Amino acid sequence: MATANDTLTITDNRTGKTYEVPVEDGTIRATALRDIKVNESDFGVMSYDPAFMNTASCRSAVTYLDGENGVLEYRGYPIEQLAEHSTYLEVAYLLVHGELPNAKQLDEWTNKITTHTFVHENVKSFIQGFRYDAHPMGMLLASVGALSTFYPDANQIKDPEIRYLQIIRLIAKMPTLAAFAYRHNMGQPYVYPDNDLRYPGNFLSMLFKMSELKYEPDPRLERALDILFILHADHEQNCSTSAVRAVGSSQVDPYSAVAAGIAALYGPLHGGANEQVLRMLRRIERKENVPDFIAGVKEGKERLMGFGHRVYKNYDPRAKIIKKACDDVFEVTGVNPLLEIAMELEKIALEDEYFVKRKLYPNVDFYSGLIYEALHMPVGMFTVLFAIPRTSGWISQWLEMIDDKEQKIARPRQIYTGERNRDYIPLDKR
Ligand code: CMC
Repeated sequence: MATANDTLTITDNRTGKTYEVPVEDGTIRATALRDIKVNESDFGVMSYDPAFMNTASCRSAVTYLDGENGVLEYRGYPIEQLAEHSTYLEVAYLLVHGELPNAKQLDEWTNKITTHTFVHENVKSFIQGFRYDAHPMGMLLASVGALSTFYPDANQIKDPEIRYLQIIRLIAKMPTLAAFAYRHNMGQPYVYPDNDLRYPGNFLSMLFKMSELKYEPDPRLERALDILFILHADHEQNCSTSAVRAVGSSQVDPYSAVAAGIAALYGPLHGGANEQVLRMLRRIERKENVPDFIAGVKEGKERLMGFGHRVYKNYDPRAKIIKKACDDVFEVTGVNPLLEIAMELEKIALEDEYFVKRKLYPNVDFYSGLIYEALHMPVGMFTVLFAIPRTSGWISQWLEMIDDKEQKIARPRQIYTGERNRDYIPLDKR
């Protein structure tokens, strides 16, 4: 609770004036700095924070993250407990609604998601238009954006019922679009959803079903995929979530806002890192090559992908759970030979002063690719496998933003560093 002493006293040495700024939740409002002026015509002081290193952009009750201590909670529930006891669909309900469902609510939710897994037939022809080797993330990005054209009323974002329907559709259709993108790359016919299967099992069916009448997912692999989905469901104000919030703040429909999130996730410093980890491990080839590779990283030639995090300065709790899930998957599929290289990289990096000093630990992407590969996913699909579950996080954050009275269209300021007041020079005089 705020007390009278919860203020920050700022003295402007340019004018000698003193200002008292309230501190709430360890934060001052950047707009409070605008009162600090040299004279009346002065705009006031701004805060400069490239890459949002120290700026809270919202109040959120979705995900709690303590990077120093490696803690991650969805709606207050520790990620470890959710990964052990819950399912992705239950977690998605928790993120969207704020509470765990009772049995009836879970049943209704599961039923709704399951009955919205099909996509309009035209989506198939849309995906068919891509080149045979199109990156699946590019196809997912485009097809999610295209969904807004199939549901034009989705732009009525103030209507809670319409909004809720788009949430169901997004969570339900994401695996279908992802699987269609995969089958397109493989040159295989698209497989329609099987609504008798659970969420991850249906996804595996749409990916891998061939001529058999019914695809029977291995329950151990299905569970491993479900755990990966739980771990990736939300991560507070990361790059892609901030993109969804920023784009959504213009009041565009949620498909377009989520497409912006997918675009942000695609990048190699964000969700695209899992793909890069696998490529890196393949390039290192053998355990004996690890020391040379680490030396190159320390010389700044490249980054150790899957290591480091803007917020975690400790072992990423998701990486710990994934490392354990690797054992369960490898029991079914046999050990991925790249695991040995990954473990050697981790061992050397965790002892090396370069990484220790910078608090660089394995993040969620370091081991997830090994599981995806064991599940026979091509590397191009790895980030898609991140986007599917992150949809529930994006949409929960979007929903929270829509209802937040303090939010307006996102519009940062700049410090202008360019030329001023130049006269146009005709072409023949330049
Ligand atoms: N390998 C080698 N050095 C690194 C790495 C790395 N993976 N990450 C950070 N550093 C160094 C960096 O060079 C810098 O050193 P110096 O102070 O000497 O200049 C210092 O550590 C701080 O790095 P930074 O780039 O200022 O840190 P950041 O918070 O801006 O970047 C990051 C965070 C995740 C982008 C970065 O750690 C990175 O590029 N990691 C590799 C890519 C990766 O695994 N991304 C997945 C992130 S987790 C899941 C997700 O977000 O999708």
